[in-house]
Amino acid sequence: MIVDKLGRRFRNLRVSLTAACNYACTYCVPDGKRLMKAQNELSATELLRAVTYLQQAAGIDKLRITGGDPLVTPKFDKFLLGVMQLPLDDVSLTTNGQLLLKKKEVIAESGIGRLNISLDTLNPLRFKQLARGGDLNTVLAGIDAMLELGIKIKINMVPLRNQNARDVLPLLEYCLDRGIELRFIELMQMGHLLHSSTFRAEFFSMASLLDVIGARYEFERTDAPYDSTAVRFSIPDKGVFGIIANESEPFCTSCTRLRLSSDGYLYGCLSSARKQYIGDLLQLPPHQLLPQLQGVLLSALGDKKTAFQGEVTVMKLIGG
Ligand code: 5AD
Repeated sequence: MIVDKLGRRFRNLRVSLTAACNYACTYCVPDGKRLMKAQNELSATELLRAVTYLQQAAGIDKLRITGGDPLVTPKFDKFLLGVMQLPLDDVSLTTNGQLLLKKKEVIAESGIGRLNISLDTLNPLRFKQLARGGDLNTVLAGIDAMLELGIKIKINMVPLRNQNARDVLPLLEYCLDRGIELRFIELMQMGHLLHSSTFRAEFFSMASLLDVIGARYEFERTDAPYDSTAVRFSIPDKGVFGIIANESEPFCTSCTRLRLSSDGYLYGCLSSARKQYIGDLLQLPPHQLLPQLQGVLLSALGDKKTAFQGEVTVMKLIGG
């Protein structure tokens, strides 16, 4: 097993199926830029092969399907059904929810038990301004459909001081009513936010969030699993919510994540742009592939930082 001096190892693989997305969220895509075309992406078969070997070489036991938005690519069905056949402890999926209704059958057939849906506001106008794509009611109908299937849902919200901070309580109430765990993600200084005053202007901290929530609800801090990125709180008799506090309470020293981009690169750390191509390795026979992959993984583990420092990499490429 490959372990670093902080005891960190890769357990948790996030696979981006495509860099394409049907949204252009303000914090991810710079103004005036539209979506780039997905280029040189690996096929579903190649990505599944990569997952199988990464499992053997690194001891991966959890996998998350991400994007871009993973539901926009035709690869989605094959990858989802394939990955659910692998011996993993946990498979989940992050999506903006826009295509959940269209993909309901394959999601049900796959047997996946958990979904994370990115939803930053319940206000239709602010939804349009923030996501710059898609339709709010379609997402809400998709969420209902998933709840009907008995799938466990978390909602991710990125609170921005001047955009959707006022939507924190309505979204929390919506989630508590439906048994959904809401997760606030502190804004991360990635992509175009790295050298922009927008980051400081829009950053809404864990302390500010707790102030807003505390004005309405009593809550207490609860335990989170060892390698969880979220600080969790329970609101007695109502439910739980979490905060992924990249800035206020960084979790880098217990991070177990490894990322595979849709174009075949491994990333060892969200705060490092260093990436290593493994698309060519996948053509090799296993006895050559595995030792080489182990070398790549050792070097990727060395890329892990101890604090998030910001990076030019955009979430859209590696799925958060
Ligand atoms: N800061 C915080 N969260 C972000 N996401 C995308 N970009 C950023 C950023 N700069 C979120 C998306 C999605 C999750 C995978 O990451 O909204 O919910």
